[in-house]
Amino acid sequence: MKISVIGTGYVGLVTGTCLAETGNEVLCIDINEEKVKQMQEGIVPIYEPHLDVLFERNIKAGRLTFSTSLEEGVNHGDIIFLALPTPEDEDGSADLSYVLGAAKDIGQLIKDYKVIVDKSTVPVGTANKVTEVISKETNVDFDVVSNPEFLREGFAVDDFLKPERIVIGSSSDKATNLMEKLYKPFVRSGNPIIVMDEKSAELTKYAANSFLAAKITFMNEIANFCEKVGADVDMVRRGMGTDSRIGKRFLFPGIGYGGSCFPKDVKALHKSGKDNNYNFQILDSVIQINNKQKTILLPRIESYFEGDLKGKTFAIWGLAFKPETDDIREAPSIYIMEQLLEKGAKLQVFDPEAMPNIKKRFGDTLQYVDNMYAATKQVDALIICTEWSIFRTPDFDKLKANMNTPVIFDGRNLYDLEDVKNQGFYYSSIGRKT
Ligand code: UGA
Repeated sequence: MKISVIGTGYVGLVTGTCLAETGNEVLCIDINEEKVKQMQEGIVPIYEPHLDVLFERNIKAGRLTFSTSLEEGVNHGDIIFLALPTPEDEDGSADLSYVLGAAKDIGQLIKDYKVIVDKSTVPVGTANKVTEVISKETNVDFDVVSNPEFLREGFAVDDFLKPERIVIGSSSDKATNLMEKLYKPFVRSGNPIIVMDEKSAELTKYAANSFLAAKITFMNEIANFCEKVGADVDMVRRGMGTDSRIGKRFLFPGIGYGGSCFPKDVKALHKSGKDNNYNFQILDSVIQINNKQKTILLPRIESYFEGDLKGKTFAIWGLAFKPETDDIREAPSIYIMEQLLEKGAKLQVFDPEAMPNIKKRFGDTLQYVDNMYAATKQVDALIICTEWSIFRTPDFDKLKANMNTPVIFDGRNLYDLEDVKNQGFYYSSIGRKT
């Protein structure tokens, strides 16, 4: 099939590349000339495991091409994916200007039947709006379909190639058939393609992300309570997670969820509720609790150093919002570091992938080092914000030799309590005994 993808951000790029992998002819469109030039030379503009291999293979095979011309994109694809940004507006709602702007342009350029697919996370009712906008510009036949993505950063290629489900919101049999044909190679294992109306598909995405954010937040509260009563959240988590109705995944407490999806989507659904006279009380709590959780280590650090952080030096391990990504959007590390800097502390930071992004944001207010041990040289404590695998089995002797005082504040519960204490460290983690 001939596919166009408008927007080569994270979602567009993964979608385009993976669709080329099953033999489709994919043309990706982006307004950023520099980025398009880079991609034409085979450079992947984001860090995502395995994407580079697929990218190179499909470019070489001539199945994956790039252009800045929307007109070319509209002419090329039988199916046109809109993978454009929907940033958070000041009031928490999703800003649809990119999506609706592209819809208007498509309406002016369309010459024959096309399926226009909303791939971006968009509020309920957007497919109708896109339809209206295009209809105003043209009499040519077209259908708009909602096809939310459920990709996790760091696992996006795998998630796309082996999805647990495909959700298609469509009220046209013709469009549904084309979409099913496109996705069939990805669900050979028998995972379902679930077809529904457009609004339900749009809401499915928000409901799934908000539910997961609430699940994590619930565990963060249980962890905080464990500390009050002297219970161990690791045990509680294992005890709960073995109930198949609850499930083992997404029960890991920490210093809050971040990223470009959960924070934005929870707020957008909450706002969408308000716009429709519905007060999502549970989402209100999720937002508030998560904001608090992001800096939960700070009072502990302050209390350990008796309120005086001025001139203290800390190592920060992990800056990305989660492992296997260079994405720092809404990363808990940012909030902790901002507060520590405000209190006059010095920070020596390390992350396997996110250093360039953090540098752009923090400039020379931080000290950047190129390996995890260098970060711990002469520090008063180590603070762990992201659970990269490389941090899981450190050489504790080396750490102790490097640090002024053997103190670890762990926001991701990486170590066994007894182990680390036996190594002679003061160790504070989330929902477990200190
Ligand atoms: C999330 C969803 O998992 C995807 O299904 C969805 O497609 C995507 O958003 C999106 O809307 O595009 P992602 O943001 O990449 O994916 O990251 P997750 O792996 O879901 O992690 C989100 C946050 O939750 C991270 O900050 C992570 O540290 C935190 N988390 C996750 C926990 O604190 N505890 C857990 O047990 C799991």
